[in-house]
Amino acid sequence: MTASRPIVLSGIQPSGQLLISHFVGAMRNWVAMQDTHDSLFMLVDLHAITVAQNPAELRARCYDFVALYLACGLDPQKNTIFAQSHVSAHAELGWVLNCHTHMGELERMTQFKDKSTRAGAVINVGLFDYPVLMAADILLYQATHVPVGADQKQHLELTRDLAIRFNHQFGPIFTVPEPFIPETGARIMSLQDPGKKMSKSDPSALSYIALLDEPATILKKFKKAVTDSGSEIRFDPVEKPGVANLLTLLSIFSGRAIPEWEQHFAGQGYGALKVQTAEAVIAFLSPIQARFAALRADEAALDAILADGAARARVRAEQTLRRVYDALGFLPRR
Ligand code: TRP
Repeated sequence: MTASRPIVLSGIQPSGQLLISHFVGAMRNWVAMQDTHDSLFMLVDLHAITVAQNPAELRARCYDFVALYLACGLDPQKNTIFAQSHVSAHAELGWVLNCHTHMGELERMTQFKDKSTRAGAVINVGLFDYPVLMAADILLYQATHVPVGADQKQHLELTRDLAIRFNHQFGPIFTVPEPFIPETGARIMSLQDPGKKMSKSDPSALSYIALLDEPATILKKFKKAVTDSGSEIRFDPVEKPGVANLLTLLSIFSGRAIPEWEQHFAGQGYGALKVQTAEAVIAFLSPIQARFAALRADEAALDAILADGAARARVRAEQTLRRVYDALGFLPRR
């Protein structure tokens, strides 16, 4: 780990299944960065409990996530892979940052407004405070780059504001991170409503493909995918968002460019596109699912990987936290 490598940090909340959209938007980019960046990838379990979780399900899902991170190609030797709850500095810096965040800044967060106004939503303080904990995650490691989806950009802007504010008041402690929204441009949309992004919190499982979905399930979901009026298969996200979404997925999972597929499908109907897309996704996921099964069977090995990741993360996080506590005027721990 040379000092000059950019420091990258990201995480996904274990509150639902990992989907092909996570793979496309996050994990495959993480894998691509592991040789060139100093990377930290978290299992964001403290954030997951901002909505009610069943403890046994949460625990199983956390193991699933780590095994899937590895099965998708993240190497625990090259990256620091850890659970947020294993490094107590996250909660500690989160508290400090709370005391430097204005209520109004959090009240403006669109994700909070969305989540808290959903029917039947029980709102806890943690959900409101979620972006501050996320800022702590990032600032603890002096991350320079934070790969996130567009929906997290506002949270990242808050992180930058908090870092700048803190540095201004207490001296240069935090690195101000850059958002890093992958330029691949591939936004994966819901299979049931191509106007919405594919999401693990969608009430309809038909709308998404989970990385662990069985081949028959994947085929069924693609066959039921909502397409557009007309019958021509061409890439037009405005006029034909459903077809465009399928072509995007087919291209990514087959490794062949969209225009090639457009040619291939000349004169064919949507049914052919759906089946071929399903087949490409099934073929791509099959080795990942096989590796997953082997990794997931050994929880002790996964625990050891997380323990090693947390030990390395802790050393770095503690350095930042000590500087923060000192800057605030807390007594030294002699
Ligand atoms: N809020 C992020 C999401 O839902 C998850 C997250 C928590 C995160 N802490 C982070 C992402 C730090 C990047 C960096 O996608």
